Amino acid sequence: GDHRATRQMTDNSPLQIFVKAKKKINDIFVEIEDYVKDTVEYMHEIEKQQEIVNSQKVKETEDFVNKVHGIRDVLSRDHMKVAFFGRTSNGKSSVINAMLRDKVLPSGIGHTTNCFLQVEGSPTDEPYLILEGSNEHCAVDSVGQLAHALCKEKLNENQLVRVFWPRNRCLLLRDDVVFVDSPGVDVTPNLDEWIDKYCLDADVFVLVANAESTLMVTEKNFFHKVSMRLSKPNIFILNNRWDASANEPEYLDQVRRQHQERAVDFLVKELKVCSQKEADERIFFISAKEALQARLAEQGQTVSTPLTEGFQTRYFEFQDFERKFEECISKSAVKTKFDQHSQRGKLIANQLREILDSIYNDAQQLKDEKLRHRKELHDKINHTEEQLMLITQEMKQKIHHMVEDVEQRVSKALNE
Ligand code: GTP
Ligand code: MG
Repeated sequence: GDHRATRQMTDNSPLQIFVKAKKKINDIFVEIEDYVKDTVEYMHEIEKQQEIVNSQKVKETEDFVNKVHGIRDVLSRDHMKVAFFGRTSNGKSSVINAMLRDKVLPSGIGHTTNCFLQVEGSPTDEPYLILEGSNEHCAVDSVGQLAHALCKEKLNENQLVRVFWPRNRCLLLRDDVVFVDSPGVDVTPNLDEWIDKYCLDADVFVLVANAESTLMVTEKNFFHKVSMRLSKPNIFILNNRWDASANEPEYLDQVRRQHQERAVDFLVKELKVCSQKEADERIFFISAKEALQARLAEQGQTVSTPLTEGFQTRYFEFQDFERKFEECISKSAVKTKFDQHSQRGKLIANQLREILDSIYNDAQQLKDEKLRHRKELHDKINHTEEQLMLITQEMKQKIHHMVEDVEQRVSKALNE
């Protein structure tokens, strides 16, 4: 029934590439950990026979236990990270909310994002947030509360607030996608600091542009800086507020073509981060506001509002963006994150084998030495035996001679 349908849907998600790879690589490290622990145990056993293993080798092997443990720890925290940038009011927070299928982040008038907001899956069923430099969990029930908490704190635009949202409310969170919302790129001189702090480990960047205007210099500059620090960052361009185009249907195609061309040129010719063909899969015309409204209505959270002309097409395009995004982020995260782990895993397995090989060789040598020793001893005994035989023969002969001599002398004496 319902349950199976949901499962089938989730298992088809491209995010499963990451989820499955993470599970597989974790299973492999569980095996490596077992293997290392067995080796340590074995070495402790044979350490008693001092001749074969020295304590240095035992120590080296024990260090692998910590190394493997460290890797498993990092692995458990590995996630896929997407960061949203763009001019203020373009709809960054709205896009994230639409993807989360709920009003999680404050947006709109009076709710300008004034610091970095990171939304990630909560380990509990209750949402809460953590301010930078603190460990305190502040419970949040609603966007209102979240917005209030953010205003009250007098946050600096470089600061990070982590929002933990229940995993069961969104598949993306369940599958380890982490969202980063930012203040407008036009409101800060600290772009370099932003990049160092928030961009270096992002798998995907989304530029939320305004379809009612063209790409701005500030937006372009920011991504020029990003692509100078990262080699070929994955960048999506969302032309948001595309619903506004419905008011002027006669210009629709022309405007779209113009935006599309400029965006492709920006990615392909200016930033040189992808090919022409790839760029076509990275640029979308959407309405975050409509997509969120549609999703809230689907869940019965609001009554559906009258739809603007062309809504269905824009909504399909939003879903198309999500699918391409999921494919891109899961592949990219698997490559950048798990490649390192599997290299290290291979290295550890090799080093461990080298240690075991050297112990085996030492043992073999010892055995050979003992064999040689025994053979020498054997030869010596043989030699002695021979000597003894010779001596005995000699003695026999001597005695024989002596007896003959004595006999001769005796008979001689008798004759005289
Ligand atoms: P800052 O945090 O201030 O930088 O803005 P932001 O980029 O996060 O924009 P936000 O999501 O707060 O949206 C700004 C306003 O635009 C809100 O009132 C949204 O409802 C509205 N908005 C967002 N997306 C759309 C859209 O696709 N169409 C229309 N018509 N309005 C939108
Ligand atoms: Mg915002």
